Amino acid sequence: MSERHLNIKSLVMYYRTLRGEVKAVDDVSFSLPKGETIAVIGESGCGKSSLAKSIIRLLPRNVSVYKGAVLFNGLNLMDLDEETFTKEIRWTKITYVPQAALNSLNPIIKIGDQMIEPLLLHQKMSKGEALERAAKTLKAVGVNEAFLHHYPFELSGGMKQRVIIAMSLLTNPELMILDEPTSSLDVLTQANIMNLLKNIKRELKISMIFITHDVSLSSELADKVAVMYAGQVVEFSDAETFYKNPLHPYSQKLMESVPTLRTDKKLGFISGSPPSLLDPPKGCRFADRCPFIFEKCIKDPPIMHLNEGFYAKCWLYEKE
Ligand SMILES: Nc1ncnc2c1ncn2[C@@H]1O[C@H](COP(=O)(O)OP(=O)(O)OP(=O)(O)O)[C@@H](O)[C@H]1O
Ligand code: SF4
Ligand SMILES: [Mg+2]
Repeated sequence: MSERHLNIKSLVMYYRTLRGEVKAVDDVSFSLPKGETIAVIGESGCGKSSLAKSIIRLLPRNVSVYKGAVLFNGLNLMDLDEETFTKEIRWTKITYVPQAALNSLNPIIKIGDQMIEPLLLHQKMSKGEALERAAKTLKAVGVNEAFLHHYPFELSGGMKQRVIIAMSLLTNPELMILDEPTSSLDVLTQANIMNLLKNIKRELKISMIFITHDVSLSSELADKVAVMYAGQVVEFSDAETFYKNPLHPYSQKLMESVPTLRTDKKLGFISGSPPSLLDPPKGCRFADRCPFIFEKCIKDPPIMHLNEGFYAKCWLYEKE
């Protein structure tokens, strides 16, 4: 594998709640070479957004455990104090489009003023310079710079999402984290935003973590795939291999549930539901729903290394 730009090692993040600890990110590891996109896929509640927040360090107050390593160009981001992290990493080298970001634009502040705020604050630009950068970036995402003087309510959903993507591009980041960036858009607008992301990837060579529950959408952008299930990555793979031949039984079920137009193959579904993250099973977390379950699965499967750093967390891939 080429240079590891992002290397996540044994990342753990739990929330404290009245009912106990929610093990939202539970020993997650993967790496991503520079300029590539990793799709993080999995069912609702499996911990995708929690993983994103753990990387960008936007953690709510009730986080009880936060440990492991997030190496970015060799530097462990978890060792940085909050001031250094804010100044040098968050919204500069790493940017983040949160889930449901469409609602995050302030309705009473003009687009331009919202866009330039981080540039004035973190990059110490003059207002003129910042506005110039904002206009250029808006143009790059296909929005006329005249919209700098508009309020968010004057924009369609697709335009707002372009503005939000532009905001995350303003600082020429090395890595963008996009959490379900198209989930509330209609299919045509969704396709336009996906094309925009593909252009950004091709032309600006920015690495991306693309979070989605939509497997077919993920295939449009991914170079690598991480499949999450119940707080863990159960398969980490090269995209080309993954979409042809997913290995983990959960990944296989996910792929079977993707509708295709060209075959009359029956759509698969995954019976049952994921375990509670308050008290996940001691053995394999997918055991209750797995068609291949066997005796060994009562023990927690370790990561079974395949080629080039890829893995499946399943006893089926234990080497003799
Ligand atoms: N602030 C919080 N406090 C306590 N539990 C939380 C908090 N945020 C998320 N959770 C819980 O952590 C688990 C993982 O949630 P998360 O939002 O990361 O999942 P997700 O994969 O992003 O889901 P979705 O696809 O619905 O966005 C869920 O059980 C969720 O209820
Ligand atoms: S470890 Fe066992 S139960 Fe879990 S996915 Fe693999 S075969 Fe299925
Ligand atoms: Mg989420």
